[in-house]
Amino acid sequence: MADKKVAVIGAGLMGNGIAQVSIMAGYDVVLVDIKDEFVDKGYAQVEEGIKKLEAKGKLGEGVSAADVMAKIEKSIDLASAVKDVDIVVEAVIEKMDIKQQVCKTVMDNGPSHVIFASNTSTMSITEIGKDCGAPDRVCGLHFFNPVPLMRLVEVIRSTDSSDETINRISEYAQVLPCLRGKRYIAEVLKDRPGFIVNRLNAPVQIYMNWVFDQMEEKGITPEQIDADGKIMPMGPCELADYVGIDTLMHTANYYAETLSPDFKPGKTVLKMVEEGKLGRKTGQGFYDWSAGRPKIDKSNPAGLFKLDNSMAILLNEGCRILEEGICTGFKTIDDANMAGMNTPGPFGAGKKQFAQWAEMLEKLADETGKDYLKPCELMKSGGFAKMRK
Ligand code: NAI
Repeated sequence: MADKKVAVIGAGLMGNGIAQVSIMAGYDVVLVDIKDEFVDKGYAQVEEGIKKLEAKGKLGEGVSAADVMAKIEKSIDLASAVKDVDIVVEAVIEKMDIKQQVCKTVMDNGPSHVIFASNTSTMSITEIGKDCGAPDRVCGLHFFNPVPLMRLVEVIRSTDSSDETINRISEYAQVLPCLRGKRYIAEVLKDRPGFIVNRLNAPVQIYMNWVFDQMEEKGITPEQIDADGKIMPMGPCELADYVGIDTLMHTANYYAETLSPDFKPGKTVLKMVEEGKLGRKTGQGFYDWSAGRPKIDKSNPAGLFKLDNSMAILLNEGCRILEEGICTGFKTIDDANMAGMNTPGPFGAGKKQFAQWAEMLEKLADETGKDYLKPCELMKSGGFAKMRK
């Protein structure tokens, strides 16, 4: 590998995972944060991860945790930390002005070949790089949590990213080890909200917000909704509690601003956030989590939530991703969903079901009053079936 040294900026949840897999791949890493206590905490988490792997005999023949940890250093001085690095992966808090400032500091102080990749999940890569002086050397690199376990990495091309930047970052991402199998790199050709996998799954929340509001209005219980989704590993209400009701609200607001007002959070979600019922993390959401994972009686389904509707919504959004040229083939979308969410994408079943699902979506759009759920042309025509790669 031509690129040898990586700076990971931000030593939080994502940054320490990225640093861990980078040293495991043999890169020299400098882990950067704004205060000693933050960088020390991130470093300790990397060390803990590496030691666990050593105990399980997963570091490789004759490789000790100390050998791997020798590859990482800490810094709280960004400008000097990036002086001799080839690649920078930015995983600081999700704030545009901070990311832009970090990007500019890297370009002003790093070598002339340094490339900057942001792990943002919601911000425009083009916007992050626009005033840094070298926007051609800026791109997106979107990991999934936890980084050592989730196979997917999305490589995002901004309006200005050069081919060389994309090639070098893809080469780096490809060699990062993953404990659950081979890494999957999905190239995102357009800098659009949610990139591929988050975008694909986003509009299911339009439907869920409607289901939650109907549930409240009709006096249906969360157990009954989860009984509707009996074949899912976690029913919709339990899953919402698990993800966090506030997270659902923030995501809904983000897509309401960037894609369509139809994404706005529903009454139920807003009320729960106001009451502090945020799900598992606060001990109360749709369920009481104070004594651990709730026991859910799934014997009395409501017949309100239909998994087929969610699949149809996924297929529709997958077709929009193709229509917008975010990627060229549906195989990338299906593979990325499997690698990032551990669930199959919609195109396998969609090739047979698209006509029936399109009809279902017409009805669902009428019933919910959400036009965004209407099937797009590429879904209705089945034309996506010719766009495999
Ligand atoms: P976090 O809050 O755990 O860590 C952020 C770290 O950045 C903190 O340690 C903070 O002190 C540090 N930081 C803030 N300003 C800084 C600066 N100017 N220079 C250096 N360090 C600075 O956040 P998390 O969850 O690790 O997220 C980081 C990024 O990754 C965000 O952009 C987030 O949207 C994205 N992301 C998060 C995912 C998740 O599941 N948490 C998944 C994919 C992307």
